[in-house]
Amino acid sequence: MAEMVKVANTDELEPGQGMVAEVGGKEIAVFNVEGTFYALDNTCVHRGGPLGEGELIGDVVTCPWHSWEYNVTTGACVTNPSACVARFPVVVEGNEVKVDLEPASPA
Ligand code: FES
Repeated sequence: MAEMVKVANTDELEPGQGMVAEVGGKEIAVFNVEGTFYALDNTCVHRGGPLGEGELIGDVVTCPWHSWEYNVTTGACVTNPSACVARFPVVVEGNEVKVDLEPASPA
């Protein structure tokens, strides 16, 4: 069974916000889209920008470095359809947001 790792408390991340969590030696970008939490690899595949620090509008985050856009629910890059970042399954238990560090299959 996959190990779920806590990355945040639900009250740390308001709807429309993202953050970066460091767990298990990885940087994970965590997002709150209207109360539902999503997790992606934090590293933009363009030049390595921190996606968790990008602006989240709806379910799309914009990389703060050169503005590539990603759908946080799938990890798919909107700007470059041949690119994507890993997406991690998320569960909420009580007030804890937990992530399975095994990437989910591409959506
Ligand atoms: S590093 Fe993300 S758009 Fe360039």
